[in-house]
Amino acid sequence: MKALNIKDMNTMHVQILWQVMEELRDANQLEDALSRCLDLFCNGTRSNKGSIWMLDEQSGRTIATNVYSTEDATGESAGPDEGLVGRVVKSGKSEIYKAEEVQNMKLAGVDSPALTGKTVLCVPISTPKHTTGCLLLTGKETPYTEEEMTMCEQCCSILALDIQDKGFTFRPFEDREPLVSVRGVVKEFLSGEEIRQILKGVDLDIYPGELVVVLGESGCGKSTLLNIIGGMDKMTKGEVIVEGKDMSDPTEQELTEYRREYVGFIFQAYNLMPNLSAYENVEFIAEIADDPMDSMEALALVGLDSKADNLPVALSGGQMQRISIARALVKNPKIILADEPTAALDYDTSIKVLSVIEKISKENNTTILMVTHNPEIAKMANRVVRLRDGKISSIRVNLKPLRATDLVW
Ligand SMILES: Nc1ncnc2c1ncn2[C@@H]1O[C@H](COP(=O)(O)OP(=O)(O)O)[C@@H](O)[C@H]1O
Ligand SMILES: [Mg+2]
Repeated sequence: MKALNIKDMNTMHVQILWQVMEELRDANQLEDALSRCLDLFCNGTRSNKGSIWMLDEQSGRTIATNVYSTEDATGESAGPDEGLVGRVVKSGKSEIYKAEEVQNMKLAGVDSPALTGKTVLCVPISTPKHTTGCLLLTGKETPYTEEEMTMCEQCCSILALDIQDKGFTFRPFEDREPLVSVRGVVKEFLSGEEIRQILKGVDLDIYPGELVVVLGESGCGKSTLLNIIGGMDKMTKGEVIVEGKDMSDPTEQELTEYRREYVGFIFQAYNLMPNLSAYENVEFIAEIADDPMDSMEALALVGLDSKADNLPVALSGGQMQRISIARALVKNPKIILADEPTAALDYDTSIKVLSVIEKISKENNTTILMVTHNPEIAKMANRVVRLRDGKISSIRVNLKPLRATDLVW
């Protein structure tokens, strides 16, 4: 790395170095430090795609922890010397390659359409003694310059020193197969004479046991995506693969079984049967499921076994939502889909409901996909998928998700 010489730097360069230091000062966990830096690196180099890869000392593999792109490469990994990432982490030296050359290196996650720019820049995140990972940037209209490479090297050195100083350690993912894979999903609606594209090609993998939050402004297509994954809406184009089975064009029977056995739904409106007790609302679903849990057990999981005999009118909004969570849970679904489950609730009640969602995620290990427009709620997720205008704009890993009780808005 070249020495830091302020005379060689343009204003942009100095500004970014400064911002990296500012952001790192406020970062109190690894994920936070990485995601703050990645945003700056992408914006500062006008790259519309970027990722940070961290070395897992145990396996020797370098794993994508933070991705700023429409493609979900999070969790992808490269062995020592494998692909551009593996090479740079091994050598500790930056490289600029033509996009097609990197594609030929066949590195998982970055050998795909992800590389759209003219060149790809890969810079190690290293102290003088040790390389902890690397930064990969692409999707820029013009080739990366030496100046940008130097700027990124300096920023990444500051990041590496900060990681070392603060004693941040990287806890990697296990090797795992996705439970649900969404590929190239497009949804169009006819609006008058005109076709409106609501989802514009969404790719997403959801892994067993994780809590994924889809975050986005109202109208960006969150519910549409959730409903397609839940088999409640048909997509115009694309694929949904569930546990290796193609559910893109299911028969009526497959669809019914899928909705009944596989998926538990939680909506903003609780949709409880008004003339059935809390217990009966849950039991009603348990009866039609193949392998349900005990309805009282489901009520106990949401902390409402004492209210089993109450009719919905005798319950508060938060309690009704918890009953609807018990109802989703009782059939032992592979995945729970929650669409803005707390949008109709006040803050205190929302936290109680989110705590229940956290509990079933952690203790029951149920896979949960939750949609919200509230960025604070995203902080409790294992991964945050940002949806903007029908496309995924970024996917972030929260290496240390917040407790529901620590969320504030
Ligand atoms: N059945 C439908 N027919 C026409 N347009 C629809 C339909 N469902 C949703 N839309 C439109 O698609 C867009 C995205 O909707 P939605 O997925 O509900 O967004 P979000 O959940 O992010 O608020 C909105 O503009 C909405 O009006
Ligand atoms: Mg919605």
